[in-house]
Amino acid sequence: MIEARGLARTFTGRRGTVEAVRGVDLSVASGDVVGFLGPNGAGKTTTLRMLTTLLAPTAGTATVAGRDLRSDPAGVRRRIGYVAQGGGTDPSVPAAEELELQARLYGVADPAARIGELARRLELDGEGLLARPSAAMSGGQRRRLDLALGLVHRPRLLFLDEPTTGLDPQSRGNLWEHIRGMRDRDGTTVFLTTHYLDEADALCDRILIIDRGRIVAEGSPAELKRRVSGDVVTLELAASGEPLDQIAGKARAALADHPSVREATVLDGALRLTVDDGERALMGLVRALDGAGVELAALRMARPTLDDVFLTVTGRSLRDAA
Ligand SMILES: Nc1ncnc2c1ncn2[C@@H]1O[C@H](COP(=O)(O)OP(=O)(O)O)[C@@H](O)[C@H]1O
Ligand SMILES: [Mg+2]
Repeated sequence: MIEARGLARTFTGRRGTVEAVRGVDLSVASGDVVGFLGPNGAGKTTTLRMLTTLLAPTAGTATVAGRDLRSDPAGVRRRIGYVAQGGGTDPSVPAAEELELQARLYGVADPAARIGELARRLELDGEGLLARPSAAMSGGQRRRLDLALGLVHRPRLLFLDEPTTGLDPQSRGNLWEHIRGMRDRDGTTVFLTTHYLDEADALCDRILIIDRGRIVAEGSPAELKRRVSGDVVTLELAASGEPLDQIAGKARAALADHPSVREATVLDGALRLTVDDGERALMGLVRALDGAGVELAALRMARPTLDDVFLTVTGRSLRDAA
């Protein structure tokens, strides 16, 4: 759906030059929800504006929805939907008018039917809701209206810039459901930007992490997290008459040859393991300990978060980087 090579954008102003995007390569497969994750100022919006033909790249090429960005920008625009950061509605115009205008601009065959269908799907069919201007809507309703505007002409590819920024947790969860629905029901490809780790994690099939204008890591949420350092499994050993250190030593010996264990340390009567793919390895570990006569009092597993990934590739925490 998207193939970009060396996409770059420099802004030159009175106060000097800003290299907002410094050569981005990306591929987005049809039917995926792909997240562009990075701190504020990383270059997410600039990249999105280039991919949606709103901003000319300083360098690089891209094919978007099967059309060349430079030679056929109108072709790209016809095939994509775009919801800008903060939306694009006129706060004083009734929602129904906005939708109808958008439908006519794109030459939608039966605007009323399409608007009715979108209103039902996006929970905008409450009594009198579409008669209101967006200024008289809740944050969640406004964002769903933005989605409806982006989807009027049934694009195969939808760009969303920070779709849930400023929403309360419940409205965010609701919007995630709608975005998943577009993918699962209609096969729409969604390319969204976010600076929320949990959003990227919960919603995206693939994530591209961008920092200072460059992509620094990419993969599925699980792949990215696996890249960090494996999962941490902590085994609390049950006291059984023997000194704890001795039990711990026995436990360590029992697991020494286990193929998924990368590292084992004894800490305060507990055995702390770094394990590849902990969820799968766990049963085998417990069985091996059982075989060695080691009893467990408790067992914990912690997975690395996307913030750990960001920390690993950039040396900073995403929370601090913003
Ligand atoms: N029109 C512009 N003129 C000058 N600098 C800009 C312009 N737009 C964005 N920038 C700068 O480019 C960098 C990336 O901005 P942006 O793409 O908006 O980041 P993000 O969306 O990831 O927060 C920032 O340093 C920003 O200040
Ligand atoms: Mg932005």
